[in-house]
Amino acid sequence: MTIPTPSITPPPIGDELPEWLRPRVPAGFKPLSSPARLCCIMQKGGSGKSTTAVCLACELALKGFRVRVWDADAQRGGATHWLAPQLGDGAGEPANLLHLFKGEASPDQVTYPTRVPNLYVVPSYTSLKQVELAPPPGVEQVIDWAINNTSEPFDVEITDCGPTLGQLSVAALVGAPNVVIPLKASGFDLDALTELNRTLALTKQRLTPHLQIVAVLLSEVLKSNLTSEVFEALCGDYPDSLVMGVRQSVKAREASLESIRLPLHEYAPTATVRKDFQYLATQLVEGRAV
Ligand SMILES: Nc1ncnc2c1ncn2[C@@H]1O[C@H](COP(=O)(O)OP(=O)(O)O)[C@@H](O)[C@H]1O
Ligand SMILES: [Mg+2]
Repeated sequence: MTIPTPSITPPPIGDELPEWLRPRVPAGFKPLSSPARLCCIMQKGGSGKSTTAVCLACELALKGFRVRVWDADAQRGGATHWLAPQLGDGAGEPANLLHLFKGEASPDQVTYPTRVPNLYVVPSYTSLKQVELAPPPGVEQVIDWAINNTSEPFDVEITDCGPTLGQLSVAALVGAPNVVIPLKASGFDLDALTELNRTLALTKQRLTPHLQIVAVLLSEVLKSNLTSEVFEALCGDYPDSLVMGVRQSVKAREASLESIRLPLHEYAPTATVRKDFQYLATQLVEGRAV
């Protein structure tokens, strides 16, 4: 396989941002090695997981990487909402992540191209909740197994988790142990973060020793004293991770509306929030020979 060379230079985001919101890239921060496996996870709905998974995936695909997103959320509104597979007219629900879990479809059969070149999706629908209710044998290993048994490997695999830390999220973590945590600067999200840290520690200890938190994103940031205090606290709590803000944007919200439903780079290519995701994509892959 010929692996494309990324062509985009890092956007000068750091210079445009106020001092209090400058991304913190720790000394010694190591860009991910190929193939990169990223998991967007947070035990809270609406924290920005799907937006991050999809926008990051789009930016990496636009750089020339072959990228696949796994929708591991049994609720509507995950990556499938944005990246619905391209199917023929009148096609019903296609083979999806549930069928993979049940052993009824192969990894290739549940992987579909999207409207974005280089970007593929493994979709899921509300039927995926069966996996939580009646987990098939080896449930935690299924995504990892599928990634390892795909006929044409991807440069980047991104799992988009639901808001609960159940079997699906653990399978998403085992398959993609480089963790990206999006959260909002609110009390509820900070409580949920404590719970998430416990799950991550146990998953690392018991299932995937390579698990590491590569990035913590403060979602939908607006300037406030609380936000800047939370940002500082996250930098202290996650000394080895990239910590950055993702700015609040009406365009980001509009893009997700049923009537629009377009990847952000198509709907609002010049939105400032897009620059944040470009920056994230560049930091995570910079220097990699992919
Ligand atoms: N930076 C942002 N600015 C404004 N709205 C955002 C931003 N990021 C996400 N949103 C909106 O917040 C809602 C929840 O985001 P989503 O990524 O679906 O969260 P999760 O996957 O964690 O449930 C969506 O409507 C999305 O469009
Ligand atoms: Mg989601």
